[in-house]
Amino acid sequence: MSFVEYEELIKEGDTAIIFLGHGSMFPVQVQRGAQTQTKYGVIRHSAHLIGQPFGSRVTCSKGGWVYVLHPTPELWTLNLPHRTQILYSTDISIITMMLELKPGSIVCESGTGSGSLSHAIIRTVAPTGHLHTVEFHQQRAQKAEEEFREHRVDRWVTVRNQDVCKNGFGVSHVADAVFLDIPSPWEAIGHAKDALKVEGGRLCSFSPCIEQVQRTCQALAEHGFIEITTLEILLREYNVRTANLPLPDLGGALDPLPVLGEAQFKIGVPLKETVGHTGYLTFASKSLF
Ligand SMILES: C[S@@+](CC[C@H](N)C(=O)[O-])C[C@H]1O[C@@H](n2cnc3c(N)ncnc32)[C@H](O)[C@@H]1O
Repeated sequence: MSFVEYEELIKEGDTAIIFLGHGSMFPVQVQRGAQTQTKYGVIRHSAHLIGQPFGSRVTCSKGGWVYVLHPTPELWTLNLPHRTQILYSTDISIITMMLELKPGSIVCESGTGSGSLSHAIIRTVAPTGHLHTVEFHQQRAQKAEEEFREHRVDRWVTVRNQDVCKNGFGVSHVADAVFLDIPSPWEAIGHAKDALKVEGGRLCSFSPCIEQVQRTCQALAEHGFIEITTLEILLREYNVRTANLPLPDLGGALDPLPVLGEAQFKIGVPLKETVGHTGYLTFASKSLF
């Protein structure tokens, strides 16, 4: 498996997602001879995982069962070890679309953080594109590099351990798109402009606070970026429930008397705890003129 190409069978070294039930899952690194404990009992990698198809239902030692899923960037985002705050799939999907990412795109990103967005970018730009990602925290940069290797996507990504505000992205005039998720993005706008192709490209900056957005928009305008737009994307999730609702008496025929009763309906109920503010997404274009 890799996070870019689907493979049928689980093999040693793969990352698999163990799905225990609604909202309950975790990743495992498949290793011959290894065991993983779950509340349903032990999963023995050699017997239960290696050679089985992804998507299999695996019976654990206590008789309970789990599903073993092929990894995707979306599942990884929900299961990855957090070394920083991360971006979630709602923001990631709009970033991917508004940056016009596609196979072959060259993308610059900073900071790498926990690599949540990086995995999604790599999946979108492969097999002919590339991600240049910059992270100034040495351990985070190292850990991200290790993960990209484990997930067999390292040939589509270069990790640079440097300060993007001082040293930029390490590439010049190659990028179709630049993404920033750092505390002071306005200090990196000049470097973003330099990283983007001469003929232009797209930029996105993610910031939780409106004061950061104001400074970023100002810097974007000063550097000649156009089409500056700030968005916030809010996700609303629904549970499906069965409800008993009274049948209405529409006051029609009296003879025979209307038979009132209840009918069952399937209804969508918004979750009580909705996801709140994550951040503002500021988009802009580098123009040729
Ligand atoms: C919020 S995290 C990014 C999370 C990432 N978008 C994800 O989805 O996992 C921000 C990262 O930027 C890094 N960072 C902050 N300022 C930086 C700078 N000037 N140059 C390079 N990295 C920087 C931090 O060390 C941190 O790891």
